[in-house]
Amino acid sequence: MFYYLIRKLLFLIEPEKAHTFILKVLNFKIIQIIMNFFLKSLPLKKNRYMNLIFNNKIGLAAGVDKNGEYIDSLSKLGFGFIEVGTVTPLPQYGNKKPRLFRINEKEGIINMMGFPNLGIDNLIKNLKKSKFTGIIGVNIGKNKNTPIENAVNDYLICIEKIYLYADYIAINISSPNTIDLKKLQYGSELKNLLKNIKKKQIEMHKKHYKYVPIAIKISPDLSKKEIIYISSQLIYYNIDAVIATNTTLDYSLLSTKQKTKKKGGLSGLPLQKKSTNVISILNKHLKNKVTIIGVGGINSLNSAQEKISSGADLIQIYSGLIYHGPKLIRKIIKGL
Ligand SMILES: Cc1cc2nc3c(=O)[nH]c(=O)nc-3n(C[C@H](O)[C@H](O)[C@H](O)COP(=O)(O)O)c2cc1C
Repeated sequence: MFYYLIRKLLFLIEPEKAHTFILKVLNFKIIQIIMNFFLKSLPLKKNRYMNLIFNNKIGLAAGVDKNGEYIDSLSKLGFGFIEVGTVTPLPQYGNKKPRLFRINEKEGIINMMGFPNLGIDNLIKNLKKSKFTGIIGVNIGKNKNTPIENAVNDYLICIEKIYLYADYIAINISSPNTIDLKKLQYGSELKNLLKNIKKKQIEMHKKHYKYVPIAIKISPDLSKKEIIYISSQLIYYNIDAVIATNTTLDYSLLSTKQKTKKKGGLSGLPLQKKSTNVISILNKHLKNKVTIIGVGGINSLNSAQEKISSGADLIQIYSGLIYHGPKLIRKIIKGL
């Protein structure tokens, strides 16, 4: 009830400003003290995936905390894991504002952010400062100005730099807001990417005596045949996890009235069934050899359970948090 009141006020503000405002407020010392005082600790429901111990199955999806500035505050909401990023080798502004839009009637969000971030070196500084003891994933991407033929290099630079500071590394090849990025999900481009990433992971493992799992984040707009192909390649290259899914470009998920001229990735409730369907196909073809992290439109305990019964080992939330607030996280953790 309390959050829905705050939401009314927040929704009066332009979405990106509201997003930054609420994160900044969460970081205030006084808010931290209040949260520590009022939020009862949650039951630990430990699970092991990718050889990592998760305190619970619910994670924060990439995009909320792009630069790892709010990890400790966000962790107070109860997340078992937090994925920061997408971060790129060099800082970049992202697309022109406004680039974030709400579709309130459908609990949807359209974003065309284009990876605004302060770069990988800045993220490392923030990770060094964090006191969060849960799992931290780092989601990496390519810079806008890097031609797609050289994209692999951007991922390798990020892996090398972040390796000692991440519990797992997520490779984002599915954002619809970076031109050509999604091409890396198909055919020889995918093979080449996975081969080089695996090679780098083995090299870093040998060098640092630390194994950092790799997850590949995919789009919900792939055909069944393409998902089956990706599954076969994930198994072949011994990739640790897959994150399904990123945002969609399928505006048919909105009614004609809700359709908008805004272009960008659609997330939230309209995406729910589509991403669950991707998880079901992955589950059938990965045969328990690759961890599945399910994300897309989780807005209730029921929808979280649906993702898990379709094959997700872990789940992540973004849009649901905007529409239902922190209580949603606690409800799901307790209920699962
Ligand atoms: C504003 C916004 C920014 C996002 N930024 C990223 C990002 O930088 N990297 C990424 O992999 N996914 C990003 N996502 C996608 C989410 O991580 C998630 O995959 C997607 O929104 C589906 O989950 P949801 O329906 O719970 O929001 C973003 C989503 C939103 C709404």
